[in-house]
Amino acid sequence: TRVAVLISGSGSNLQALIDGQQSGELPIDIVAVISNRPGVRGLERAQNAGIQAITLDHKGYDTRDAFDQALIAQLDALQPQLVVLAGFMRILTPVFTTHFAGRMLNIHPSLLPKYQGLHTHQRALDAGDAEHGVTVHFVTAELDGGPAAIQAVVPVLATDDAETLAARVQQQEHIIYPMAVRWFCEGRLAMSANQVLLDGEPL
Ligand code: GRF
Repeated sequence: TRVAVLISGSGSNLQALIDGQQSGELPIDIVAVISNRPGVRGLERAQNAGIQAITLDHKGYDTRDAFDQALIAQLDALQPQLVVLAGFMRILTPVFTTHFAGRMLNIHPSLLPKYQGLHTHQRALDAGDAEHGVTVHFVTAELDGGPAAIQAVVPVLATDDAETLAARVQQQEHIIYPMAVRWFCEGRLAMSANQVLLDGEPL
């Protein structure tokens, strides 16, 4: 399966996918990694793995639409069967999300629909939640609102701050994101009419 990965930062989830590709556990061919921010660690990870690393700096575009059109053009040239958002910190326009509907996944560090948007770990702590977690979901026009494919739950400990909680969540991210990608590649995971199907059954 031809996969394009979009990042904005450290790329630890990207690394989990690279590791899966290299070990043969994941039937994927990461055809490119694209970052909207120059010089980030994730681009370095791609280069180290011999994967095409592309910077498409959003600051070079006047409007969100112009950036999204450039990103669509770049991606279409790569012909990915799956687009993976892995810490990609740009809001995408409906033109973009419609174009890749059913073949674009995102990972969000909360138990969606709780805590869409930013600062999820601090918000879970502030709310006194006993549990927190992470969600892999298909991307729709609604920010962090597409239907969920997999969630992982972690306990919130009395001693946690946002950093320790984030680290516990990230361990799970690196497990469930490759899992979701594998299911997609095997044809087990799909989105139809805004609903996730696993082995043909609605989740
Ligand atoms: C992760 O916490 C992910 O859930 C969120 O952004 C972060 C990306 O981390 N969407 P990394 O760049 O994969 O290390």
